[in-house]
Amino acid sequence: MKLAFITDMHLGTEGENPQGVDVRQNFLKALDFVADMKPNGLVLGGDICNDTGDRAIYEWVKKQVDQLPIPCYVLSGNHDDPTMLAEAFRNTHHLHGSELYYALPLDGRPVLFLDSSKGELSPEQWTWLREYLKALRDNNILILMHHPPLPADVVFMDRKYPFGQSDAFLDIMRELPCHVTVVCGHYHVDKVVQRGNLLALLSPSTFYQMQHNSPEFAIDHYQIGIREINLTTHGTTSTVHYLKPGQ
Ligand SMILES: [Fe+2]
Repeated sequence: MKLAFITDMHLGTEGENPQGVDVRQNFLKALDFVADMKPNGLVLGGDICNDTGDRAIYEWVKKQVDQLPIPCYVLSGNHDDPTMLAEAFRNTHHLHGSELYYALPLDGRPVLFLDSSKGELSPEQWTWLREYLKALRDNNILILMHHPPLPADVVFMDRKYPFGQSDAFLDIMRELPCHVTVVCGHYHVDKVVQRGNLLALLSPSTFYQMQHNSPEFAIDHYQIGIREINLTTHGTTSTVHYLKPGQ
């Protein structure tokens, strides 16, 4: 089971190029790459919009991903509106209040799609997550969410825009007898963080990548990044692909 994970596209309205980057073109290039990769599914990891959720942008994105012959799953980021996103992706049955979270078996493997768009999970989402983890106890689990659930030594992001409930998340994971892999975005870096039975794969953006060590906001480079995830009966492998300039 191969998944492509594209995240942090930060799309604006047509013709809007944040920081001079043609983010729509970048997204389309990433989709072209995904088409060649021939995955079984595509995940959009949130921060689809650059500023706030926008129906027209979500509809445009839906139109683009519908051209691929694979299902597309969406996560809400802190710049998204979960309700608008769910409406555009005909996914409203997965809305719980104003949060978009759900569980799907992918190739027989349980996958949880969380909504961290408010920087934390609501009490209802925590209850839902605990119940699912209890039911899935003996399975290795894949969790997809926008925020890295724990600090990642990316100084600026850890200080300014971290997930607000890392300790609670780690406490729950620590109790599980299985391995948990989290694939996430938000930090605009490609990084692996392991703690106990938890492995977090931070994924690069299609907009810009951040420097890891800077205490201030600092861009590392503008290459478009895409994560590939392979789920096998033996475990998980993952690779980050960067498109070459001009590709
Ligand atoms: Fe974000």
